Amino acid sequence: MYKLVLVSLSLLLAPAAAFGAEADVIVADFEGDSYGEWVATGEAFGPGPAKGTLSGQMHVEGYEGQRLVNSFFKGDATTGTLTSPEFTLQRKFVCFLIGGGQHEGKTCINLLVAGKVARTATGTNDKPGGSERLDWHSWDVSDLAGKKVRLQIVDAATGGWGHVNVDHILQSDTRRGSQLARRELVVATNYLQLPVKTGAAKRRVKFLIDGRTVREFEIELAEKDADFQALADVRPFKGKALTIEALLPSDSNALNAVTPSDEQPLSSDADQNRPGLHFTSRRGWLNDPNGLVQHAGEWHLFYQHNPYGWSWGNMHWGHAVSKDLLHWTELPTALYPQQWGDWAFSGSAVVDARNTSGFKTGSDDVLVAAYTSTGRGECIVFSNDRGRTWTEFDKNPVVKHNGRDPKLVWHAASSRWVMAVYDEQPDAPTAEAKQGISFFTSPDLKEWTFASRIDGFYECPDLFPLAIDGDKANQKWVLYAADGKYVLGDFDGKTFTKESGKHQVWFGNFYAAQTFDNAPNGRRVQIGWGQGIEFKNRPFNQQMTIPVELTLRPTSRGVRLFAWPVKEVEAASQGRAHATILSIDRLKLVPGREVTVTVGGTLDQFDLTLELEVGTAEKITLTVCGTPIVYDAKQKKLACRHVTAPVSTCQGRVSLRVIGDRGSLEIFVNKGEAALSIGHTPSDTDRTWKALATGGEATLHRPSIANLNATE
Ligand code: FRU
Repeated sequence: MYKLVLVSLSLLLAPAAAFGAEADVIVADFEGDSYGEWVATGEAFGPGPAKGTLSGQMHVEGYEGQRLVNSFFKGDATTGTLTSPEFTLQRKFVCFLIGGGQHEGKTCINLLVAGKVARTATGTNDKPGGSERLDWHSWDVSDLAGKKVRLQIVDAATGGWGHVNVDHILQSDTRRGSQLARRELVVATNYLQLPVKTGAAKRRVKFLIDGRTVREFEIELAEKDADFQALADVRPFKGKALTIEALLPSDSNALNAVTPSDEQPLSSDADQNRPGLHFTSRRGWLNDPNGLVQHAGEWHLFYQHNPYGWSWGNMHWGHAVSKDLLHWTELPTALYPQQWGDWAFSGSAVVDARNTSGFKTGSDDVLVAAYTSTGRGECIVFSNDRGRTWTEFDKNPVVKHNGRDPKLVWHAASSRWVMAVYDEQPDAPTAEAKQGISFFTSPDLKEWTFASRIDGFYECPDLFPLAIDGDKANQKWVLYAADGKYVLGDFDGKTFTKESGKHQVWFGNFYAAQTFDNAPNGRRVQIGWGQGIEFKNRPFNQQMTIPVELTLRPTSRGVRLFAWPVKEVEAASQGRAHATILSIDRLKLVPGREVTVTVGGTLDQFDLTLELEVGTAEKITLTVCGTPIVYDAKQKKLACRHVTAPVSTCQGRVSLRVIGDRGSLEIFVNKGEAALSIGHTPSDTDRTWKALATGGEATLHRPSIANLNATE
């Protein structure tokens, strides 16, 4: 049915009203199944207003009602125009919702006066991955009052974002769309809480002091019903007059909802439901661990962090410290982006014990970190106060190339620093050569010289020597990349010589791992990002994997890395409320007959160990509170949810250790030969532990589960 609302005839003919706050006049809401009196040319606008998203298009949102003008009909390649009947301007503003491509004159809406373009507006997207959201736009047309005009929607673009979306065109005395909102306050507290609604339009917010921008970030500011409060740390600005500025819809109240606060709010349920054995940032998003270093009895965990949202963005370096690798204290953000668009991407930190850099000022050893500033290149910062505050080296960037993620290593044999850094060469002749790791050397962490490049490695490199079976006379260098793939070889301080193919110890939700510099007793402790482990409806998102100690051991397939939870996990679990649910010597499994142990509570933090004697069974399934872990004897594979890893048997046995937490299961096979990180939410209704053998018999030796979160 044709329901297009046009300006009524009387209004069309009426003389321009004096500008007061008169009722809005709807020019078109595009709710009908045809364009009515609007005239379409070409194909792009289809037979009539679209019912939302068209075939092959990303999700379209932000329009009103059921339909809108969407020129993605048959994709981006089609073109056309859509022109309104003539009408008279009789309000101060013409307002409309618009989205789609940002091609001036090509994906746009024009206001035509006597056939000439008097105003024009495009969509806002010019990049892959943009959003199909429509936003308000307003033209001030007071100078054209009383003029007879037409609107023309144009799609003359055929490439990426070659379409325009328009809806709900009004004449109004109230501007719709963004205007600069400002709020001034004197900083008297540690934080400002900013209400966030995940999925709301992203707003660019600035904090200014004396007219100078001191913070700038994007945030999904909530107009109402905030999901959580992001915490902007304003400690450095105490006592100063701070201006908050953002382009916001004219009726927005969001800046009024920004509230000063001294404490990080701790009491909400969301906080109580944090993982107990894994690091999560109290607020916002995290990804790669950065700057892992042990110094003055503290383990430092810096990390890629968006303090202002649940998803990736606004890259900062968050910071936490721990005495035992398990209990972390969050400290203020360590690295802020220097300016909008110059994000603090991944990097590493070292203790410069010899003060080669000359950065040391106090009695403590100086910490030096390297990170990727996306606007400048690889940059150096240093800290003389145990990592609490950092100073930029005044000659940054120290390395400029096409890449990121510098890992600093002291190469003792050549008495030099090495930077292993991901390097991209998009024009390289082979796929292998496009992505690699470059090595630079330096005597002082300030002046760097290119040494060599190795092809075929992904981002976030790590490089370290490790003794085989603890024998210091027999060590190999390990070159490790973000995807968890590593090679063994020799590194002479300049060039890495491979002596093995690529191997992998971690599987599943695991990415961009790094090992600690300066760990005591030669320990090689690694933490990864549990990539993709989500905490829906919580103020935080993503977690780090449990810290593991890496060792090199000979196996029947050659020397391999092993990963095993650091010994601090056992020590800490002994100090916790702890209930042993099951601890028996042997459990024989008869095919098809499931053994069920009632756990009695939610198993949301536990440590399970057992040895599986595979026997004649084809499959053995251990189901922990509803989540099956399946060993497939034929395929020699272990599977849990979306993660599968190859597993070998030793004299017909496989040993398993499963560490469960509120967001994950981590399975360590055969004392660390393989490790699986699996995003998982523990069931709070299924309170059983089950074991089942199929196709034959199997035996579980010494199955034992400790509930690390026992409340009674
Ligand atoms: C890996 C990565 C790094 C980059 C960082 C940005 O997850 O893409 O290469 O430095 O994340 O957050």
